[in-house]
Amino acid sequence: MLKKFVDPLPIMESIRPTDHIHNVPFYEVRMRETFQKLHRDLPPTKVWGYNGQYPGPTFHVWRHLPVHVLWKNELPERHFLPIDTTVHGAEKDKPEVRTVVHLHGGVTPDTSDGYPEAWFTRDFQKVGHHFTNRLYTYPNHQPATNLWYHDHAMGITRLNIYAGLAGMYIIHDREEIRLNLPCGRFDIPLIIQDRSFYKDGRLFYPQEPDKPATVPHPSVAPEFFGDTILVNGKVWPYVHVEPRRYRFRILNGSNTRFYRFSLSNGASFIQIGTDQGLLETPILVPSLVLAPAERADVIVDFSTCYGESIVLRNDYETQGKKPDPETTGSVIQFRVIDSLASQDESSIPVRLAHVPKLNHYREFRTLRLNMREDSFGRNIHLLDDRLWSDPISETPKLGQTEIWNLINETQATHPIHLHLVRFQIFDRQPFDRDVFEKEGRIVPTGPRVPPALNERGWKDTVRARPGEITRIIIPFSPYPGLFVWHCHILEHEDYEMMRPYIVIR
Ligand code: C2O
Ligand code: CU
Repeated sequence: MLKKFVDPLPIMESIRPTDHIHNVPFYEVRMRETFQKLHRDLPPTKVWGYNGQYPGPTFHVWRHLPVHVLWKNELPERHFLPIDTTVHGAEKDKPEVRTVVHLHGGVTPDTSDGYPEAWFTRDFQKVGHHFTNRLYTYPNHQPATNLWYHDHAMGITRLNIYAGLAGMYIIHDREEIRLNLPCGRFDIPLIIQDRSFYKDGRLFYPQEPDKPATVPHPSVAPEFFGDTILVNGKVWPYVHVEPRRYRFRILNGSNTRFYRFSLSNGASFIQIGTDQGLLETPILVPSLVLAPAERADVIVDFSTCYGESIVLRNDYETQGKKPDPETTGSVIQFRVIDSLASQDESSIPVRLAHVPKLNHYREFRTLRLNMREDSFGRNIHLLDDRLWSDPISETPKLGQTEIWNLINETQATHPIHLHLVRFQIFDRQPFDRDVFEKEGRIVPTGPRVPPALNERGWKDTVRARPGEITRIIIPFSPYPGLFVWHCHILEHEDYEMMRPYIVIR
């Protein structure tokens, strides 16, 4: 087993524009294969990184100041992870290594949104049939928040992100600066991902599901759980901190794994933001659940912890088991051994932002999260019982607000993400699974439960739990066009739990 807390936490470098086009900053990012030390005792691991770095460099942009990005694929022709060619979009006639970049949570016109079939290969030699333009533009009109960019190529997203294609994208604005939250080196992004390795340092990704069956080889697995936890690309790192307040922008960038974080000294997190920016007020949370793609912006106060070593723990049950505190139950160690370099003058105002509560809607949709068996007997997760290739069924009107009722008929929690929009969680309500299984009817068995205090902000990914109706309220604006919505468990998203949708004018 790899030793914990022997490597210092890396901080991704911030990317700088290489040029300007009519005063708009222009960034060029090359996706490259490289070898990186992910742990003291592991030989360098082959990874794919934006600008050859895993995780990719961090973007720091300002609200209302757009940027251009040219994403370039300079990857090898062959993939180093197992491709299942029975999966839609990854068929044998497709080039093996395809990429397209999505800015997750970005309010972006569809031509720059990274549609899964707008992929491109090395030097744009081949492109998917939805490809239109090389240069992407991000308008950045949304309030300060923590977004991330990652690969979204049809049928191999799970492999491309697992290989390393992900990074942070932070939007700043004046309102937030005025709050005087911890900043500079006291403001640290944490990208949390699980991985497994071979002894020689290579990344391990399963060739097929655990359960033996007559499946194609390789075959997409229904889920992936790594046996080590990485933060910013290092296995179980440590970080020296001063006895003062820190801001951590936490992203769950894992394929399937959910986390419930807590601090080993029993202290609470002060949560200040969700996926899409600041909460109305700071919320004290003893533990924090994050599904794949969810973000939490938190303040941790180490001011009374001088001399202590505090571990960020995870106790989210996976496959019916609590994680082992010695392995996946640990994430990172904070060593409060630096002395205070200067007085902590940051503050945590009681009022952070205004989050108007959405109530009015025009349209109401009921959408099932369900499961079928494919012709190989594998589970196939679906959105409203439809395949990716079925005709488009969700066509909200530009400028209108809708409620989507997500009825989770499966046994798993699915983190549901919509491109383009920011939404709010309306409520959740349990339904009778027995009646559903026998008669196919949805009969609620309890009251509608409002979202937790720390979910009452703008979201772009929502946990829809099994046996529950999860209602979200979504204003469809400001761009019309073709987007997608999907489960963010990458193994589900790649295997049919993703659907196109159109915002119509
Ligand atoms: Cu984070 Cu459609 O993706
Ligand atoms: Cu799912």
